[in-house]
Amino acid sequence: MEFSEVVRKRRSVRAFLNEDVPLETILEILEEAILAPSAGNLQPWRFIVIGNQELKFQLTQSAFAQRFIAQAPWVVAVVAKVDESAAVYGERGKNLYAIQDTAALIMLILLSATNRDLGACWVGAFDDDKVSEILGVKPGERVVALVPIGKPARTPEVPSSRKELSEIIEIIE
Ligand SMILES: Cc1cc2nc3c(=O)[nH]c(=O)nc-3n(C[C@H](O)[C@H](O)[C@H](O)COP(=O)(O)O)c2cc1C
Repeated sequence: MEFSEVVRKRRSVRAFLNEDVPLETILEILEEAILAPSAGNLQPWRFIVIGNQELKFQLTQSAFAQRFIAQAPWVVAVVAKVDESAAVYGERGKNLYAIQDTAALIMLILLSATNRDLGACWVGAFDDDKVSEILGVKPGERVVALVPIGKPARTPEVPSSRKELSEIIEIIE
């Protein structure tokens, strides 16, 4: 798929077919995602890849019952190692760079999944403490997103609405 097509085709997918996706495909997606830029190239992140149905159900419960999370064959939890960024960049590393770094990574996951005709959704609404406990995430780390990935049961056809570029741009020549 052309890059421009991937970008335009990507949508948040919130319904998945009850079909497997090989773990290898998820690993290929993550191999692409780790090409994301990061401040100082610290790469302050790690993934937890969850295929276990009981754990996926618990994650759903901790994410305000967003049921599509447990519907996907895989959920990738993207964890920011905020302490690693803080060690080099202090507060700015902890509160800004580590989050920006993982956000760039998550975006590449979404695009890479789209490029493989898979669906994914960036899920950020969840109870931090509950999700950290379920996944055994340590202090000094922060789960930034849960990303369910699977074969889409439906993908919205119409592009989601965006502000006009003209509304949000300032050009200084
Ligand atoms: C930081 C962040 C958190 C989000 N959290 C959720 C979420 O918890 N649940 C959900 O269904 N979608 C979530 N989304 C997806 C957005 O709702 C979605 O990207 C937006 O509505 C635009 O639609 P599109 O992705 O189809 O273009 C999140 C997106 C971002 C960037």
